[in-house]
Amino acid sequence: MAKIIALTNQKGGVGKTTTSINLAACLAVAEKRTLLLDLDPQGNASTGVGLAREKYADKNIYHALIGEIDISEAIYNTELPYFDVCPADSNLIGAEIELVSVIARESKLKNALATIQDKYDYIIIDCPPSLGLLTLNALNSANSFIVPLQTEYFAMEGLAQLLNTVRLVRGSLNPNLKMDGIVLTMFDARTSLHKQVCDEIRTHFSDKVFETIIPRNVKLSESPSFGKPIILYDIESKGSEAYLSLAKEVILKEREIVDAGDSENVATL
Ligand SMILES: Nc1ncnc2c1ncn2[C@@H]1O[C@H](COP(=O)(O)OP(=O)(O)OP(=O)(O)O)[C@@H](O)[C@H]1O
Ligand SMILES: [Mg+2]
Repeated sequence: MAKIIALTNQKGGVGKTTTSINLAACLAVAEKRTLLLDLDPQGNASTGVGLAREKYADKNIYHALIGEIDISEAIYNTELPYFDVCPADSNLIGAEIELVSVIARESKLKNALATIQDKYDYIIIDCPPSLGLLTLNALNSANSFIVPLQTEYFAMEGLAQLLNTVRLVRGSLNPNLKMDGIVLTMFDARTSLHKQVCDEIRTHFSDKVFETIIPRNVKLSESPSFGKPIILYDIESKGSEAYLSLAKEVILKEREIVDAGDSENVATL
């Protein structure tokens, strides 16, 4: 069964899509069967991995959410083995409105993913920059979430609101939702402010911050315009190195949880 991870932060432009694409691609390179699910009407994750909009205009996550098609019809291969994408485009904006009067509207994605969860090891959801119905669907479906945080002065602004939403989701819809951690993005080692912000976030959240820090790297901002994840665009870049390291941490985290589960089982035997 796939581990479903939502990449979320209602703050815009913090690196959610860049992290979703590249984490997913690096997991696929590690031969983990991975689905990148674009849940943002901006559709940047979809075009960022090289899908042409006209190819998926009639069959994408929107059509699956409103029940017009089965989600399996909205899944496309990429040029990397083990790496599939479920794309989105601007019609997904309509889903927020169209689903308002639908029963169990916050479980639409969860129900759709339940039908394909055994086909993947990881499903990575790129959330939109809001805490609306789409993000609620993502958090309701997910086993865990990752918060990309830009190393800048107002980084933590809005984080309390996000964590409050998570608390509400845990209380009502998805009690097992875990926080995998915060990943610091667009870090510039030459800027003392960036270092200060990193220290502050680590002090606040300690082991909930990934060891890997994503540097500001121009190759990372260029690669989506070539429709390629960073590892296919420039394997030797700092960006590639960082996302491979993040993928490793994500895989190891999973293993820790499984091992802890095993020892719990042993203890209860
Ligand atoms: N590590 C990085 N180095 C350089 N540029 C980056 C890096 N990460 C992201 N960017 C650039 O910053 C911009 C915002 O990144 P991205 O689209 O990943 O953020 P987002 O959180 O998904 O935004 P939105 O909230 O609009 O969905 C993009 O132009 C992206 O190419
Ligand atoms: Mg985005």
